[in-house]
Amino acid sequence: LRVGVIMGGDSSEREVSLMTGREIISHLDPAKYEVRPIEITRKRDLPQQLAGIDMAVIALHGKYGEDGTIQGTLETLGVPYTGSGVLASSLCMDKNTAKKLLRYEGVETPDWTLLTSPDELENVLASEPLYPLVVKPNSGGSSVGVTLARDEQSLREAVERAFHWDDEVILEQYIEGEEITCSLLNGEYLPVLAIKPNGEFFDYTSKYEEGECEEVVASLDPDTAERVRRAAELSCRVLKCSVYARVDVMLHQGIPYVMEVNTLPGMTRTSLLPKSAQAAGLSFSALLDRIIEGSLA
Ligand code: DAL
Ligand code: MG
Repeated sequence: LRVGVIMGGDSSEREVSLMTGREIISHLDPAKYEVRPIEITRKRDLPQQLAGIDMAVIALHGKYGEDGTIQGTLETLGVPYTGSGVLASSLCMDKNTAKKLLRYEGVETPDWTLLTSPDELENVLASEPLYPLVVKPNSGGSSVGVTLARDEQSLREAVERAFHWDDEVILEQYIEGEEITCSLLNGEYLPVLAIKPNGEFFDYTSKYEEGECEEVVASLDPDTAERVRRAAELSCRVLKCSVYARVDVMLHQGIPYVMEVNTLPGMTRTSLLPKSAQAAGLSFSALLDRIIEGSLA
């Protein structure tokens, strides 16, 4: 099979995508795949780079990669690709829309407010918000531009910083608890991981610097484990994800609060999905085989 690994892109997660891409390339079994690295920016001629490819392995993250745009391009060009389709990709990239749908379907998600301009922060401040608040670009990833704000001053700075990355920002209630993550692969539920970052939260450094974070298979009591599983599976169903996804959850007093669903979870050396697969006895190469098989099915 001739596969093109699409990586890079123009989003705030370009560097992460290059790490994901390199890791994928080094683990695609050369006996099975003829691999072509395709590093893109929006200006490159994608159709030309894809000529002769049987399938695109998408190693992009963030805007123009994880948000349905590249998926739409590949659909139009008739090139099969890995992972979720256009709708799931764009829904999951827009945190505000995804959270609305999750809540509508009865999945718990932390309370939040969407800001469509920095001025709207004044209305929030007038209503005396409860701190801490997690300030996030609405369509970002890898915690780029994310700040935990504990008072008005830090909230103001955090909002300014987040608007630097996106034209919409969400203020999400910080849930005190245990951060866990659930990976799904072709309908199979992989072992849940508990995340223990060295810093205040699971930020960019703890995500991608070796040794900055410890992830272990979570030990949950059976009732909690079942609630987490139901929340993760329902989230993926509601948001129409296919093949694989990673659901990020805060666990508070046994209740799972879904923060988001990642349709193109990181596949770097320190990323969670490969660790979760490993815990299920699947090597990185076997995980890639499953993703490719699932996407072609
Ligand atoms: N957005 C990063 C790549 C992740 O969710 O793993
Ligand atoms: Mg994400």
